[in-house]
Amino acid sequence: MPSEGFLPPSLGRKRNMCGIVGYIGNHDAKEILLKGLEKLEYRGYDSAGLALISEAGVHVFKEKGRIADLRKAVDGNVFAPIGIGHTRWATHGVPSKVNSHPHQSATGRFTLVHNGVIENYELLKRKYLADVTFNSETDTEVIVQLVEKFVGEGLEVLEAFRKTLSLLHGSYALALLDAEENETIYVAKNKSPLLVGLGSGCNVVASDALAMLQVTDQFVELMDKEVVIVTKSGVIIQNLDGEVISRVPYTAELDASDIEKGTYPHYMLKEIDEQPAVMRKIIQTYQNDQGKLTIDQDIIEAMKEADRVYIIAAGTSSHAGLVGKQFIEKMAKIPVEVHISSEFGYNMPLLSERPFFIFISQSGETADSRSVLVKVKEMGCPSLTITNVPGSTLSREADYTLLLQAGPEIAVASTKAYTAQIAVLAILAEVTARRKGIDIGFDLIHELGLVANAMDVLCDSKELIEVIAREFLAVTRNCFFIGRGLDYYVCLEGALKLKEISYIQAEGFAGGELKHGTIALIEEGTPIIALATQENVNLSLRGNVKEVVARGANPCIISMKGLNMDEDSFVIPEVHELLTPLISVVPLQLLSYYAALHRNCDVDKPRNLAKSVTVE
Ligand code: G6P
Repeated sequence: MPSEGFLPPSLGRKRNMCGIVGYIGNHDAKEILLKGLEKLEYRGYDSAGLALISEAGVHVFKEKGRIADLRKAVDGNVFAPIGIGHTRWATHGVPSKVNSHPHQSATGRFTLVHNGVIENYELLKRKYLADVTFNSETDTEVIVQLVEKFVGEGLEVLEAFRKTLSLLHGSYALALLDAEENETIYVAKNKSPLLVGLGSGCNVVASDALAMLQVTDQFVELMDKEVVIVTKSGVIIQNLDGEVISRVPYTAELDASDIEKGTYPHYMLKEIDEQPAVMRKIIQTYQNDQGKLTIDQDIIEAMKEADRVYIIAAGTSSHAGLVGKQFIEKMAKIPVEVHISSEFGYNMPLLSERPFFIFISQSGETADSRSVLVKVKEMGCPSLTITNVPGSTLSREADYTLLLQAGPEIAVASTKAYTAQIAVLAILAEVTARRKGIDIGFDLIHELGLVANAMDVLCDSKELIEVIAREFLAVTRNCFFIGRGLDYYVCLEGALKLKEISYIQAEGFAGGELKHGTIALIEEGTPIIALATQENVNLSLRGNVKEVVARGANPCIISMKGLNMDEDSFVIPEVHELLTPLISVVPLQLLSYYAALHRNCDVDKPRNLAKSVTVE
């Protein structure tokens, strides 16, 4: 008989990663929770729900779809000074009203929202809850049913909650309500992110501070396996044994205007436009009084000692890692391997003698990356996280952190975080090189300044890019991106952007590789987007374009000034050859954006995706 920790493959199926909020105070919780959920919608948007306790008792509202749909379903007449809410993203199982959170215990006394995955839920169900009828297919329902069972056996609610938590294997951020006592939200976390916010006359709970900036900027971080009793007048943090833990709150340094769209139709467009300012902020942040780039000495010493750097990341961040590899190898002369985190964790390569690990993650929460970090720490290897979110899990758990300074990125498709990652990697490479006595041969601060200016020019070229998007991408079924060297890595990112938000089947290829098979897919009119920013491969890349044109492809060549030719569709300003990814990606981001618009897609919340993937 397997122990409760044993996880047969079939039991790992039911996974969700979501956003949760909670409010307790004197005001009506409804609107605060709905607004909070709207801010968390990037975490999942296939269904959502609210539970409120009014004088009349518990009210649960759930809806499949967006928060806007939930808003319509919520009864405006209910006044409740306490409530919890949830927005869900399911990877398995149909998103449905019944599977959406909150979930309730059999009698309806307990109501729960959960972000994470309970790996042993079926075993717990069989062992403790064989006589309970379940309403949903979720792992979450087991938790709330267990609390009720243990309370039924005579435990106090907090004890029952703690006992339940001690049985759970997996990840969770939880908020629990008890209908018989409307003055407490019981909270717990393990591996999934969760914060408690301290308001005046109220307290809040949220997966991300963004959600509750409307109430407070004072937040308390929670650590794994902590339990928190949140009332309107106080917050008590305990460990699983019930010992009280004191923790100083921090001020969330987020400007509420950073998380508003302002006059922009979409966050993605706003975030693309913010890239020049982010570049300038990064230059400023990482520059010392002598006008030199600077990074925490301990990080540089650790990098310098390494005989090989391992970059671990997922999605767009892994594409930034590929560019970073070139920087670190070319400037700091340290060999670099870039690995997709979901593969590395389970299929680790033979490591060098003195590895140094760099985790790149916009959110700092990606579970695939975190599971690698846990193993890296067990092996005693030094680790650095490059992230946009201070205090995020990957930041807390790595030895060192470098922040992206990009400001909140709300659109699911990453844009400004990608370019910020590349800029920070360039700075890391330059400072390490300098520490090693290597002259990189150019002034990175100056060159990044030119990049920011070039980004301004590109952001002002939207009309032209919109025309190109209409011509090449408005009706196509597929699209190929080709480039060589650094351009190849940008092509991977360009193709990912296009797939994510326009649902056009897109692939990025090394210019020379397309002919080794994939060229079979080229038909009359197939769009090929070719990047030509690398002088040493400009002519061979153009040869690759000719190969596909001969088979009927419709080429859109994006070149860099100085390498441009008559047939090019768009020319980007000239920047240092190593830094071209920072600007060549901008027209690709805009092409995806306009392609998605022309195809009537939901740009900021593409189907099936979520911004922060906190389950493996
Ligand atoms: C998700 C997002 C991607 C993102 C990836 C890695 O899949 O949809 O846009 O690139 O996670 O996220 P991270 O926060 O680790 O950079």
